[in-house]
Amino acid sequence: QHDTVSVATMTSATVLQKIRLAEQFRQGKQVRLLRPAYAMNLFFENSTRTHTSFEMAERRLGLQVLDFNVNSSSISKGETLEDTVKTLQAIGVDIAVIRHPANDYYQQLLDDRLEISIVNGGDGSGQHPSQSLLDMMTIYQEFGHFSGLKIGIVGDLKHSRVARSNMELLTRLGATIRFASPDEWYSAEFAKYGKRLSLDELVTQCDVVMLLRVQKERLGQSLSHFDQKRYHDQFGLTQARFKRLPPQAIIMHPAPVNRGIEIDSELVESSQSRIFKQMSNGMYMRMAILTDILVAKGLLSQKTLEDTG
Ligand code: CP
Repeated sequence: QHDTVSVATMTSATVLQKIRLAEQFRQGKQVRLLRPAYAMNLFFENSTRTHTSFEMAERRLGLQVLDFNVNSSSISKGETLEDTVKTLQAIGVDIAVIRHPANDYYQQLLDDRLEISIVNGGDGSGQHPSQSLLDMMTIYQEFGHFSGLKIGIVGDLKHSRVARSNMELLTRLGATIRFASPDEWYSAEFAKYGKRLSLDELVTQCDVVMLLRVQKERLGQSLSHFDQKRYHDQFGLTQARFKRLPPQAIIMHPAPVNRGIEIDSELVESSQSRIFKQMSNGMYMRMAILTDILVAKGLLSQKTLEDTG
């Protein structure tokens, strides 16, 4: 795989192969590159988890990591993303991890058939493939399968690239999706993936409750009308709702968490929460994503990968 930009082409086999590899990295697997290789992380939107865990993954794999400062780059002089990435390629960067506010920003780069590999660290409200794969790893660790699992996705569906990636991939893997979402953040786009329920109903019939962040930075004018208490009362995971979860159910959230809005603060660390587990898994899954790209580019040999413990 030369690029990883969305979940569109990911099959069940691909997901399981990535989980297996990520688990091997979690157990301490190490790899050795065939020549020095270079990764650059270009974050046009803020990030803690994705940025840091990609950088950690790159370093653990032995890649040389270059960081890109948008404000001090020639993007501020009007250079396009396309020309920026072509420049990095000309300089010798092998892999560009990009987060960008524009949906599908990566399409033009793929159409250009560049040598440099593109890894999407999140595009607007489009896709977040590495988050989706780390979420699959977290679910698989818990249940050992996807087929027949009931997954509740709760909150701001409209702005969520995590929700779009996960509902697409989980449906393909045989899970059943249920939604709980305010009218203004729900539309016909989601109805084809699953039923919409009240959160009170949803929590009683889920294996996974996947909470979404209220993306205040994307609400524009409507932010001034957003009532945090009202949202928490209707769509927050409260202690009362937590008590009605089935015993096997786990709580997930891509984070950052708005404590007290999407979830009562103390539930973030509850026994059924896997929120910090998701973050640890993220680093190993990003190692797996990058490894498959390094093999495809001939920077890591498949044989060495299989031989190394
Ligand atoms: N979940 C996630 O993408 O977090 P960051 O925005 O901190 O990367």
